[in-house]
Amino acid sequence: MSNTPSAEAARLRTQLELYNYEYHVLDAPTVPDSEYDRLLQRLRTLEAEFPELVTPDSPTQRVGSEPLAQFAQVQHEIPMLSLDNAFNAQDMVDFERRLRDRLGAHAPATIEYACEPKLDGIAVSLLYRDGKLERGATRGDGRTGEDITHNVRTIPSIPLRLRGDGYPGVLEVRGEIYMPRAGFEAFNARARELGEKPFVNPRNAAAGTLRQLDPRLTAQRPLQMCCYSVGHVEGGALPETQSAILDRLQQWGLRTNPESEVVNGIEACDQYFQRLEAKRDSLAYDIDGIVFKVNALDLQERLGFVSRAPRWAIARKFPAQEEMTRLLDVEFQVGRTGAITPVARLEPVFVGGVTVSNATLHNADEIERLDVMIGDTVVIRRAGDVIPQVVSIVPDRRPDDARPVEFPTVCPVCDSPVERGEGEAALRCLGGLVCGAQRKAALRHFVSRKAMDIDGLGEKLIDQLVDTDQVKTVADLYALPRDVWLGLERMGEKSTDKLLAAIERSKATTLPRFIYALGIREVGETTAASLALHFGSWEALSSAAESVLLEVEDVGPVVADHLRQFFDSPDANTVVAALRTAGVHWPDVERPSEDATPLAGQTWVVTGKLEALGRSEAGAALKQLGAKVAGSVSAKTHCVVAGPGAGSKLKKAQELDVTVIDEAAFLALLQEHGVSL
Ligand code: IVH
Repeated sequence: MSNTPSAEAARLRTQLELYNYEYHVLDAPTVPDSEYDRLLQRLRTLEAEFPELVTPDSPTQRVGSEPLAQFAQVQHEIPMLSLDNAFNAQDMVDFERRLRDRLGAHAPATIEYACEPKLDGIAVSLLYRDGKLERGATRGDGRTGEDITHNVRTIPSIPLRLRGDGYPGVLEVRGEIYMPRAGFEAFNARARELGEKPFVNPRNAAAGTLRQLDPRLTAQRPLQMCCYSVGHVEGGALPETQSAILDRLQQWGLRTNPESEVVNGIEACDQYFQRLEAKRDSLAYDIDGIVFKVNALDLQERLGFVSRAPRWAIARKFPAQEEMTRLLDVEFQVGRTGAITPVARLEPVFVGGVTVSNATLHNADEIERLDVMIGDTVVIRRAGDVIPQVVSIVPDRRPDDARPVEFPTVCPVCDSPVERGEGEAALRCLGGLVCGAQRKAALRHFVSRKAMDIDGLGEKLIDQLVDTDQVKTVADLYALPRDVWLGLERMGEKSTDKLLAAIERSKATTLPRFIYALGIREVGETTAASLALHFGSWEALSSAAESVLLEVEDVGPVVADHLRQFFDSPDANTVVAALRTAGVHWPDVERPSEDATPLAGQTWVVTGKLEALGRSEAGAALKQLGAKVAGSVSAKTHCVVAGPGAGSKLKKAQELDVTVIDEAAFLALLQEHGVSL
């Protein structure tokens, strides 16, 4: 192996491209991100020392430094077409009949279809010359698009040079650029926090991002590319079917959709459609239908085109995820921490597969941004299991009697003063435990499954206890005499005994559960588990200085501040003391020592639904034993804990021959290593 700087740079690039391909195209990373970052850093250093070694397709050259002044126009050699739509099974049957009529004697006994999810993003064209990415362009009007090369270069799943060999000298690849749902939600959450404008939906987010003139901004947004066809090709041949072309594209390093399948006949298309529709919510990205394409290219050629769409393909649409309805009123809900949230009451509307009659409006900034008034016609979006959102209003449809949304000046539940904290978007009730709404929410949280897990103490009972003022704090739950429970609506002897037994059982708890149950602001299940693991005991945790709290994983200045405020509050201390007097107890958490970390150096993945413990608890237990917990399965994964409903991660583990254990085996292992749960 030659050790010249130039040879080292070439080796680093090849290695980085391989890791990038494994991660983004195969979804199967073989090394941790840190290794990728280390190699990239080494390459940067080398290129800084020897600038003559920099090549345009080097992985260091994804983000240009200067924003463009404007977009240049691009003429598409072959127009980028659109698709005909189908809305039901009959439309599909009609589609096949049209195909057969046209093909006549050339129609095969069964027509083979390539089925592909229809990603809801932006159509783009990528031009590779001699394997190097030369240009990226938007579809535009189909003939003329915009040059977005500077932006597509920043998208990690788009290779700057193709892998392997055998690709045509000129290869134009087409596909969709989109923003995965999680990235979209995270981006909008941050935008809302900063008081910036959130995007209406992932599609607009992708479009807005691609229209950035400054590639440094694009690079910060989580865009993905998925390829679905080829355009202009010169100097090389491609396979004879749509599905084989996609396979070839993937071998050349381009991302294609792993859900794509080839099926026989139009009935099988219907089955594929049903399957994907059932899966739609669990996909990481939005799809708005399925594209069915005649698989054989010779048949495609015979069928040809009508105006702007091919005769050989059709897009069958899913029910819409956005619909219009009327905003009837805005009510204000008070949450566990006093945050007052405006909730839209809507004329019921069927959207994203369910009937929606409420949607959150987040806060005053959001209402101002939407410029929404009561009586307005609004656009509602519900995608996946994300809560329904009001995305915009229809200004033309504002009635004359529309009235502005008025924010309460005192708490709508307890009449306490309200305040908008510095730098905060939310209005907050300052009533604390005086406020019935906060008390109810705190109690609901305290008894919930992942907290104290008091089975049978539902919302109706909590409401009665709070409304009659028999319970002021969570500690009062342990002090209520039997006849108070018996006196509540719908409580008989049997249910009272059962509930009292559940309350008694809840006293033996764990430190992570206890911390979580207290409902300290911003302290979720994961943070509670990290705190318990770090400090080991309540005493150590509650006396820790802010600077010490900051050392804990997941704890930033905001959380540390909330924690200290809680520990310093006399009311909170009274409640904790009362809980302990009532008999609530837990074992201290063993801090892992060297020999107590039998899984050190191993990477584990938890997937599916676990019964006995939450996924974060499972993660915390693994960390306690020294394992690293990863979100995706690769050849480097040591073991996968799979509960019911495990999907693609389980499949990948089986493909890669990674050990898989079920929850029972996992619990046995934890017990063996003395992890207390
Ligand atoms: S094929 C000539 N395949 O849908 C065929 N399009 O309504 C043209 N789209 O502009 C497109 N996923 O942006 C094709 N697997 C897929 C697709 C797909 C999404 C988009 C594409 C196109 C629009 C047509």
